[in-house]
Amino acid sequence: MSTKARGVLGVVATGAGGVESLRTGLVEPAMARGWQVAVTLTPTAGEWLRTIGEVERLEKVTGLPVRDVPRLPGEARPHPQVDCYVVAPASANTVAKLATGVADNQALTQVCEAIGTIDLPVVVFPRVNAAHARHPAWRGHLAALREADVRLVYGPEVWPLYEPREAPSGRELPWTAVLDAVDETVT
Ligand SMILES: Cc1cc2nc3c(=O)[nH]c(=O)nc-3n(C[C@H](O)[C@H](O)[C@H](O)COP(=O)(O)O)c2cc1C
Repeated sequence: MSTKARGVLGVVATGAGGVESLRTGLVEPAMARGWQVAVTLTPTAGEWLRTIGEVERLEKVTGLPVRDVPRLPGEARPHPQVDCYVVAPASANTVAKLATGVADNQALTQVCEAIGTIDLPVVVFPRVNAAHARHPAWRGHLAALREADVRLVYGPEVWPLYEPREAPSGRELPWTAVLDAVDETVT
C-alpha cells in the first residue's frame, strides 16, 4: 500500500453507532495511508466522544483541534484547507440534512459547502438501518447526493441493513471500504 503524502482529509463524524472507533478505524489508518487528518464532529458526536476521552486522543494523534462548534467571525480557521471530505459514520439525520443543504452545525456547514465546491471530493458512509432506509424521503436523499457526485459507501456488500435492534452486536463499521472509497475518489 502506498504511503505517499495525499493532502488533507476532512474526517466528519456524527452521532451514529461505531463512532467510538473513529480514531482507530479511520483516522489512524488514513494517516498511515499518507493523509493529514482534520476531524470535525456534529454536536452529538462531539458530546459522545468527549465523554469517553476520544476528542483529546484525536487531537493528540492529528495535531489539530477537533471542531464541533463554529468559530467566531474574528477567529482564524483552525484547520488547513481540505482536499477530500469523508463523512463516516453518517447518521440518517445528517444524510438528510446534507441532501437538502441544511447547514446548522459546523460539520454540516463544511460538508454542504464541499458538496457544491468544484473538484472537492466527498465520500459518505450512511450508517443506517432498514427503517431509516424505508423512510419515504430516503431514496431521494441518496439520489440528490449521487447527482452531486458524492461517493456513497452504501449497499448490502458493505453495510447490510437490519431492522432496528436486530443487527448482530459488535458489528464493525466498514472502515476499509470507506478508506478505499476515499483513495479511489481522489486518485
Ligand atoms: C446510542 C445511539 C446510537 C445511535 N445510532 C444511530 C445510527 O447508527 N444511525 C443513525 O442514523 N442514528 C443513530 N442514532 C440517532 C442519532 O444519534 C440522532 O438522530 C442524532 O440526532 C444524530 O445527530 P447528528 O446527525 O447531528 O450527529 C443513535 C442514537 C443513539 C442514542
